[in-house]
Amino acid sequence: MSSIVMTVDGPGGAGKGTVSRAVAAAEGYHLLDSGSLYRLTALAALRAGISLQDVPAVAQVARQMNVSFDVTGDRTGYALDGEDLTEQVLLENTGAMASDVAKYQPVRDALLHLQQQFSRPPGLVADGRDMGTVVFPDAICKIYLTASAEERARRRYQQLIAAGNDVKLADLLKSIQTRDAQDMNRAVSPLRPADDAIHIDSSDMTIVEVVEQLREHLHAALNR
Ligand code: C5P
Repeated sequence: MSSIVMTVDGPGGAGKGTVSRAVAAAEGYHLLDSGSLYRLTALAALRAGISLQDVPAVAQVARQMNVSFDVTGDRTGYALDGEDLTEQVLLENTGAMASDVAKYQPVRDALLHLQQQFSRPPGLVADGRDMGTVVFPDAICKIYLTASAEERARRRYQQLIAAGNDVKLADLLKSIQTRDAQDMNRAVSPLRPADDAIHIDSSDMTIVEVVEQLREHLHAALNR
């Protein structure tokens, strides 16, 4: 049975996670943070002593890993085999490792079905890089959310500092730019807007403003 899906794609740090969570909560929808699955795949592989370049072995890990999510309020907990890995999942370095394993088609294939299973009534908000182009091509409302690299680095910096991490803004900006280039230029499922996506630049918008716009677009799509 096809259910309502809204996709929110875009580069890292554009605010996809925060606004997707808020829209899902306001609508009573489920939430898929697809980036966390690539992050958990990289962590699971490392913990199993598997090189991130060993594509078949990483894909096998992606197929078999036992992940669980605990969505409460404005926080999601991530666990592998029941072990809480939330802190490691959110590290910038884990994002870079996720981007490394995400370039491989067998790894993406291994995660496709798991991601599609998140689509359940009454609806789903799915955020990532290829939600509107590959995973949910029939989504009723597709958003492509961007912000300047400087603004995204600044937001990530504030998030990480608030969580007690010791990071430098310049390092974050460099990491974000490297990851953008890798995500946009890879051969499989590169980061790009779906043809029917609505583009929103959040550089000068508040979270509340972005959430309102997304909900307006969703409601307009539902009423079409
Ligand atoms: O969004 P997040 O920063 O958690 O994503 C981590 C990495 O996972 C991204 O840089 C990207 O390479 C990969 N990813 C992807 N497709 C998705 C979500 C994330 O390739 N749908």
